This record gives sequence, C-alpha cells and structure tokens, in this order.
Amino acid sequence: MKEVLLEKIQDRRATIGIIGLGYVGLPLAVEFAKGGFKVIGYDVSERVCKSLMEGHSHIQDVPSAEVAKLVRQKLFEATTDESRLHEADAVSIAVPTPLVKTRDPDMSYVIAATDAMTRQVRAGVLVVLESTTYPGTTREVLLPILTKLGLTVGENVFLAFSPERVDPGNPKYHTKNTPKVVGGITAACTEVATALYAAVIDQVVPVSTTEAAELVKLLENTFRSVNIGLVNEMAIVCDKLGVDVWEVIDAAGTKPFGFMKFTPGPGIGGHCIPLDPHYLAWKMRTLNYKTRFIDLASEINSQMPAYVVEKVAQALNEERKPVNGSRVLVIGVAYKPDIDDIRESPALDVIRLLEQDGADVVFHDPHIASYREDGRTHSGVELSKDELKRADAVVIVTDHKSIDYQMLMDNAALIVDSRNAMAKAVKTKARVVSLAKTRFAGMAVDPA
Ligand SMILES: NC(=O)c1ccc[n+]([C@@H]2O[C@H](COP(=O)([O-])OP(=O)(O)OC[C@H]3O[C@@H](n4cnc5c(N)ncnc54)[C@H](O)[C@@H]3O)[C@@H](O)[C@H]2O)c1
Repeated sequence: MKEVLLEKIQDRRATIGIIGLGYVGLPLAVEFAKGGFKVIGYDVSERVCKSLMEGHSHIQDVPSAEVAKLVRQKLFEATTDESRLHEADAVSIAVPTPLVKTRDPDMSYVIAATDAMTRQVRAGVLVVLESTTYPGTTREVLLPILTKLGLTVGENVFLAFSPERVDPGNPKYHTKNTPKVVGGITAACTEVATALYAAVIDQVVPVSTTEAAELVKLLENTFRSVNIGLVNEMAIVCDKLGVDVWEVIDAAGTKPFGFMKFTPGPGIGGHCIPLDPHYLAWKMRTLNYKTRFIDLASEINSQMPAYVVEKVAQALNEERKPVNGSRVLVIGVAYKPDIDDIRESPALDVIRLLEQDGADVVFHDPHIASYREDGRTHSGVELSKDELKRADAVVIVTDHKSIDYQMLMDNAALIVDSRNAMAKAVKTKARVVSLAKTRFAGMAVDPA
C-alpha cells in the first residue's frame, strides 16, 4: 500500500483532502493544487466554501486570482460535503486549536474534524494533523481511532503530524519556501508524509516521531513568547531606569552572534503565540511539571496592554486631562503589522481598558474597517488631520507600514507610541511618549 501511495504522489495522481480552509489550510491547498494535485478542501463554513468557489480568497496572503484559476482548472474545489473526503488519498487536518477560558486546550475542532475524516477514511490513505497541539495528540487521539476502524497504521494507513509554520503577511517566507517538519507514527508514515510535502514544498525535515514534530512547533512559539516577554520586561526596566529601550535593543542587535533582536510592544496576539505555549504547559501539568518560562512570559505579555493604558493615563495626566472623557484614537487593531487578523490582538484589550476608564475611544486600521466584540460592532474612522486634531491622545498599537506617521506627528498633540513607529518621523508638533520614558540627555560627541 505504501508503494501504491508513493507512486500516486510521485505522478500527481493522488487527490489531496484538506480539512479547514483558514490561514493554514487554504495556502496549503493552493500549494498542492499549484503543484498539479487535485485538491478537495472541506470546511464546515458554507460562506468560506461558497466564496472560494466564486474565486474570492478570504486570506490576505492568497490572491483571489490564484484561487479562481485553480477552481477553473478543476484542481481545487471547496466543499461542505464531508463525503467528498472519501476521494482523498491524503488528508491534512488544519482546524483551529483554541483554549478554553481556563487556558486548557479546546480539542473540539480537532475531534470534530477527526470524526469527519474517520467516517470517510479508507485503506491506503495518509492522514496528517497540522493543527498546533500538545505533544501526544496524534498518537493518543488519532491513532486509536484509525486502529478501531481495523486499519493498521504504517501498513494500510499512514499517520503523521506536520506543524504549519505560516507567517501571515510575511513577504519573503510562505508555504512553499518554509521548511516543513514531518514526524510519522512509523518510519513508513514519515516516508509517505515526507514524499507528499516534498512534492510541493522546497525542503522537508523529517523527525523520528509525531511527538517530536508536535514539540518542534511548541518550541518555536514558546521561544517567541519567552523572548517577547523578556524584551517587554526590558522595556519596563528601561522605563524605571530612564533609559531608551529602543536604543539599547538596536545597539545590542549589532552583536553579530549570540543575540537575536526582539522588540517590545503592547502584548502578543494571533492564533499562535498567545495560545500554543499553553498547550505544552497543560500537557506538562498532567505530568506534574510546571513550565515556568511559559507561565512567566505569558504573565508579562498579557500585562502589556494594561501597561500601555497606564502610559496613556500618565501622558494625559501630564496634560492635566483625565482619561475619563478624553478622546483616544487607537492606530492599528490587527495583532501585527500589515495583516487583517485581530484574533487575540492586544489592541482589543487596550481599547477595552481605556473604555472602562471612561475614554471615548475610536480606532483607525487600514486593514480592518470594523470588528465585533461582545455583541458590539466597533467601526473604524478614516485617518484625517481633523481626527488627529480631535484626539486628546493617539495610541499606536500596531505599526502598519501604510500609515503616514509624519501626518500623525504634524497634527496630533500627544502620541503614545508602543512600537517605536514614530522614530523616523521628523519632530514637529506632537509630544511623543514611548513605552520607556528616557531621563538622560544624549551626550554630545565632538568629532574634533
Ligand atoms: N494562523 C496562523 O498563523 C497559524 C500558523 C501556524 C499554525 N496555525 C495552527 O493551524 C491551525 C489552524 O489555524 P488557522 O489559523 O488556519 O485557523 P482558521 O480559523 O483561520 O481556519 C480554520 C478553518 O477550519 C474550519 N473548521 C473548523 N472546524 C472544522 C471542522 N470540524 N471541519 C472542517 N472545517 C472546520 C473553519 O471554518 C475555518 O475556516 C491551528 O491549530 C493553529 O494554531 C496557525
């Protein structure tokens, strides 16, 4: 069976099923289709499938024209009909893995997707879990289901985990040129999964087990969370010492070895970094081990929105204004620059906290016209001189490239800049407050 599947992959006769057509699943589906495979994308969302079949992409990094072309060529099809998965020779699962309120893993999407796969799976198929999850998920959750069906993993069905590393908005690295890690339940599973991804992705990195592959993703995102936590704490340290944190980081960044530059900000967002480390923390709690770095980084990062709000309150106070009743214009609500994703965005916390203190908050984001939270729609405003002049404080939460920062400098009275976005603007009107308040005057250096 392995040889048959390998042959089908090699000559592009294999049909690929992708469960979940979001930030991860859609780019992957498109990559397989562009590679000449027939791809069936299964998603529970009627809206997502319909718009894809009409040639509209809902994912910023995937051009609609590309989707439309692949649909026309009959290489890609999006469907809510689960039974179509029966046609697939390989099925990748890319559904959400959020946390429940107690920060424990919410595996309901993975379980629902696995159930759908189970109802349709047949002998000779490769199943790959791509959703970020705790080490052991593939072996503990998916393997028993396949075994119960009477299939023998490694012989007549193949099971692997392959973490997705997509970085939305990254102009350089995308699905095809980002190395893909793959770990199978057996060596045969790893071999088949490696062959599948190698057909469309430049570099595949096989590891020995599904647990290793699961942990790779968690290490990568925990690494980011911890380093962002460290540099956020450094911003607080610099504030207390009266030192310019950005100058310190830039200078440290000139070290050609042993240092990697991370920058402070209003906190972390997105579907990955705020959540994934908690999958590992949860798993380790079940083994009676407390992951201290994860917990500490999470604590520091999750306090950053409140720290930004405190900066706004202090800055307004210096102008003899209370937060209550002040008009605050938040720039950028996406969780990172140049994307349209607000999931877990610290901007939402900043806005909520400012509103709790009585501020009249409006926002501008070139990528997000409006968003809904707690049953309320927040609509963005246009960025105009008038809007800037009306604001008692402008808070830069996300530094999108397309914002005219000089216009902010020339028209706003007070800017609280959590991203160092104003560094390149020529100092004119606005008072700019950074995350860390500097106290010392720069030393004049006379070259003579
Ligand atoms: N977004 C990222 O940047 C990123 C990067 C790497 C890894 N991941 C991981 O990839 C996984 C997917 O994340 P995403 O960002 O693509 O999520 P998403 O919310 O963008 O997309 C998930 C899609 O799955 C669909 N879906 C939900 N339940 C389903 C089911 N039972 N059957 C079929 N479809 C279903 C949803 O309708 C949605 O379209 C998560 O585990 C995430 O942690 C995300």
